[in-house]
Amino acid sequence: MISGKPLLTTRQIQERIQELAQRISRDYSGKDLLAVGILKGGFMFFSDLVRAIEVPLTLDFIIASSYMKTDSLGQVKVYYDIREDMTDKHVLLIDDIVDTGITLNHIRERVLAKCPRSLKICTFLDKKERREVEIPIDYAGFEIPNEFVVGYGLDYDNKFRNLPYISIFKKKT
Ligand code: PRP
Repeated sequence: MISGKPLLTTRQIQERIQELAQRISRDYSGKDLLAVGILKGGFMFFSDLVRAIEVPLTLDFIIASSYMKTDSLGQVKVYYDIREDMTDKHVLLIDDIVDTGITLNHIRERVLAKCPRSLKICTFLDKKERREVEIPIDYAGFEIPNEFVVGYGLDYDNKFRNLPYISIFKKKT
């Protein structure tokens, strides 16, 4: 169940997105920006963020999901890959949350192999306490505690993604 009031309200989220978008617009002024949304979780943050970015950009998506194996760190499966040519592009990967870092680390290496002009990472939420793989994060919306959160793209059992705010989710015991 969703517990208490939102951890992050719609208003807090939208204000932070404006700040991030202003920084990104300044940093990418005059550069050929390719914004890549990581689905499914990143869909809402991506669409709000790109609407607030004021420099021209192209966009694409990658659908990826991580799962744990007992004998190793998490594995990442890519269901749909970036189709845009990345050479000569300044690529910005945009996701909803960095938790262990495994998903973004995998996607980052995949993109770097295509030799873009630059690669940066933007995440809506950063759950630093859970990190297992160090990855460089260039833009982060909010650092959050080690709680299971849903809403604004994030799910429990594929539900709650459509909530326009972030709430802590407690499993019924
Ligand atoms: C979630 C989230 C991130 C990733 C973060 O995706 O959207 O991409 O996990 O976790 P990590 O840092 O531990 O790798 P998930 O694999 O649940 O797929 P989804 O986006 O379809 O929900």
